[in-house]
Amino acid sequence: MVAAADSFPPQRIEAGPVVLRRLRATDAGAIAAAVGASLDYLRRWMPWATPAAAERQSQLGRVAEADQWWEAGLRYTYSVVTAGRGTLVGEIALHRQADVARSEIGYRAELGYWAEIGYWIAASQSGRGYATSAAGAITELALALPGIARAEIHCDIANGASSAIARKAGYRLDRIEKRKPAAPGETGRLMIWVRDSAGGAAPQVGRSQMR
Ligand SMILES: CC(C)(COP(=O)(O)OP(=O)(O)OC[C@H]1O[C@@H](n2cnc3c(N)ncnc32)[C@H](O)[C@@H]1OP(=O)(O)O)[C@@H](O)C(=O)NCCC(=O)NCCS
Repeated sequence: MVAAADSFPPQRIEAGPVVLRRLRATDAGAIAAAVGASLDYLRRWMPWATPAAAERQSQLGRVAEADQWWEAGLRYTYSVVTAGRGTLVGEIALHRQADVARSEIGYRAELGYWAEIGYWIAASQSGRGYATSAAGAITELALALPGIARAEIHCDIANGASSAIARKAGYRLDRIEKRKPAAPGETGRLMIWVRDSAGGAAPQVGRSQMR
């Protein structure tokens, strides 16, 4: 499932008011600071949002992991920075996932691939359209990757802001599944938003410019 060398995504994607830039070690301090200043805001939905995540050292470790995932072609993590000043405002990631079938004797077959999109924006930067723009751009990227048939955004039914992002990026609500709550804001009802590679609803954001 490792990506072919020519199928790696761009390191930098321009998306209106923001730029998605491959996560790098020099971002670790800014990410730690943004997480630290947003802990109450993030922890409602993100189980990883703990004081440890607000430390530069732990973010350095995450960047190293993200590099490994990127090189394996399994997960692409970007910092979201403002287009003007380059201020780091959050992160967005694309996880390559597989639809899997298992036979009774344990044979496992990968039937096809899809991409799950995840994101967060710092509390002080919310409500400026940054997540909408970033999600629109990374969705286009996901659906342009070889073998990816659809993109999905998963969020709890109580997460109104995340649902709004999915809707504005052209996703349709496919179903609601039960899931054990993992964060204090979650109800245990998970919305599965889907955008197919062809024929998905037109997003409200402009096409991203990829480099
Ligand atoms: C979800 C999140 C990424 C949105 O980031 P953002 O940059 O503020 O998003 P945008 O400014 O692009 O858009 C926010 C939209 O949500 C809407 N919104 C905000 N709170 C809402 C709520 N409680 N109910 C419904 N809509 C809501 C806003 O009105 C806006 O839509 P509009 O532009 O049509 O008015 C940010 O709130 C966040 O990081 N939350 C915590 C982490 C998280 O939940 N991540 C997603 C996990 S699935």
